Amino acid sequence: MRYDAPSPTRWNARSYDSSFGYVSAHGAPLVELLDPQPGERIVDLGCGTGVLTAEITSRGARVLGIDGSSAMIEKALAQYPGLDFIVGDGRDFTVAQPYDAVFSNAALHWMGREPDAVISSVREALTPGGRFVAEMGGAGNCAALTAALSTAWREHGLREPDLPWYFPTPAEYATRLEKGGFVVRLLEYFDRPTPLDECPNGAADWVRMFAGSLLQGVPADLVESLLRRVNELAAPALRRETGWMADYVRLRFAAVRR
Ligand SMILES: C[S@@+](CC[C@H](N)C(=O)[O-])C[C@H]1O[C@@H](n2cnc3c(N)ncnc32)[C@H](O)[C@@H]1O
Repeated sequence: MRYDAPSPTRWNARSYDSSFGYVSAHGAPLVELLDPQPGERIVDLGCGTGVLTAEITSRGARVLGIDGSSAMIEKALAQYPGLDFIVGDGRDFTVAQPYDAVFSNAALHWMGREPDAVISSVREALTPGGRFVAEMGGAGNCAALTAALSTAWREHGLREPDLPWYFPTPAEYATRLEKGGFVVRLLEYFDRPTPLDECPNGAADWVRMFAGSLLQGVPADLVESLLRRVNELAAPALRRETGWMADYVRLRFAAVRR
């Protein structure tokens, strides 16, 4: 039930809020879709530093934040001392009493290769009729960024990195939800080009924050040149006059436990 986050999910919790607070800022419409009611019991799965956990709590719900990274949970507890946070793995967490809803922003694609295990854990955590409301990366998410990354690695004589994310198509994820015991009430699949305002060094900064684990096996003297090349390759698609733009594609859904 508890686990140490594997390397792809090792986060820099300290810089997460200051540099990448846009992740939770984009969660506002998802909180509206969740529509938390006073007194409801809700899990925030992959809660990170707890910004949206606190937002949902402010609507009167009782929220448990769960995250695989102990660094994230430590920061969440420090920022929001009155709220409940625990370290847990989305693929096999259990709860003592079923919840009214499970909410998840920008986290399910990190729980990657075992989506059915996540869906099954979420189902077990819900009362019948309970809601599963989430947003994650969808098929094609960050395609230009990841293509630049793979090419740069290859050009530097490195084995192409094994990317840690799971970005399903809407049809695939809806099928998994239905097979996993949910009725899909809403499913949206859309482009959301996202300004990387906090990334003066463009795609290279994004790689350091979100794909930093891929740099772990790279010889130190190659890193700068590798990231410079990622920027050169990604720039035609992602650099605008106003700054860098990530090519995010989102899958947002609301499903109900049968
Ligand atoms: C991009 S952050 C999003 C955090 C937060 N939901 C927000 O909107 O700011 C993704 C989070 O998923 C967590 N995560 C990744 N894999 C996980 C797993 N298997 N189980 C639980 N949490 C996981 C990471 O530790 C990270 O905090």
